[in-house]
Amino acid sequence: MMMDANLVASLLRCVPCGGEEFTVERNTFHCGGCGRTHAPEAGGYTDMLEAGGKSRPRPPTVAQQLMESEVFVSLYEHVMRPIFVRIFAGPDAGVPRPEGEYAIYERWLDVPARGGPWLDLSCGAGFYTQSLVRSAKGQHVVGIDLSDAMLEKAAKQLAGMRNVALLRGDARALPFREGTFSGVLNAGSLHLYADPDAAYREIFRLLQPGGTYVASTFAESPRPLGHLGVRMTGIRRTDLPGLPAALSRAGFVDYEEQRFGDAFIFKVRRPE
Ligand SMILES: C[S@@+](CC[C@H](N)C(=O)[O-])C[C@H]1O[C@@H](n2cnc3c(N)ncnc32)[C@H](O)[C@@H]1O
Repeated sequence: MMMDANLVASLLRCVPCGGEEFTVERNTFHCGGCGRTHAPEAGGYTDMLEAGGKSRPRPPTVAQQLMESEVFVSLYEHVMRPIFVRIFAGPDAGVPRPEGEYAIYERWLDVPARGGPWLDLSCGAGFYTQSLVRSAKGQHVVGIDLSDAMLEKAAKQLAGMRNVALLRGDARALPFREGTFSGVLNAGSLHLYADPDAAYREIFRLLQPGGTYVASTFAESPRPLGHLGVRMTGIRRTDLPGLPAALSRAGFVDYEEQRFGDAFIFKVRRPE
């Protein structure tokens, strides 16, 4: 844990019992409501999804199986991510390089002017978590993901950085209190979620009033390769015309979008 464990505990909500009173002993979180304990994993993160011991069901899609494969994760940032973006966004989409993409996220989230804490939801191997930590200038950043392999890689990349914590959790039921974060970054992940609407509701719940949600993903596309990719991997493209309404059903306002071929970035806000 690279962030004070008591501070992390002050953000937490127990997913099974809804309890918000956690005590901390040797970086282990104990829920005062149901007694569950979450100890740090050897890989450098804390599993908030399963308390004690690991029993991982096989991920339901090929795409998520890849996200949990150590070989795929080791090649993710430099090889796999650019290939996936090219296939799913289209060859001439003009998607910015990751640094340029982060510049958009940083501007839309208003880091660091707005003040943290910030959540990197589905942080993967931690590229944007690192960027957030650097640009948040001492504000707190939490990265959360479903994949142990991704979190272990992220912990290595973030080694030595302060004010950052890594947790394992599911976007459908996040282990945080209502109104915790001033911004949520959710880069390149919605297409892997089984239930994006549940994630929108969760993100809305844990944003502070006036807080911003910024995400990137891929839009539905008539390109044949797009269909083949979807069938082979289980990746789910977003119905872009229906997205503003889906977000507004979760309570969000002020939808904005920037498009790069079939890839796009959007921003919404929880009202004050
Ligand atoms: C393609 S990676 C993107 C990682 C990183 N945000 C980036 O842009 O490089 C997608 C991530 O979403 C995570 N993921 C998939 N389903 C999830 C869920 N239900 N809850 C949390 N994370 C999930 C995967 O484990 C994977 O690390």
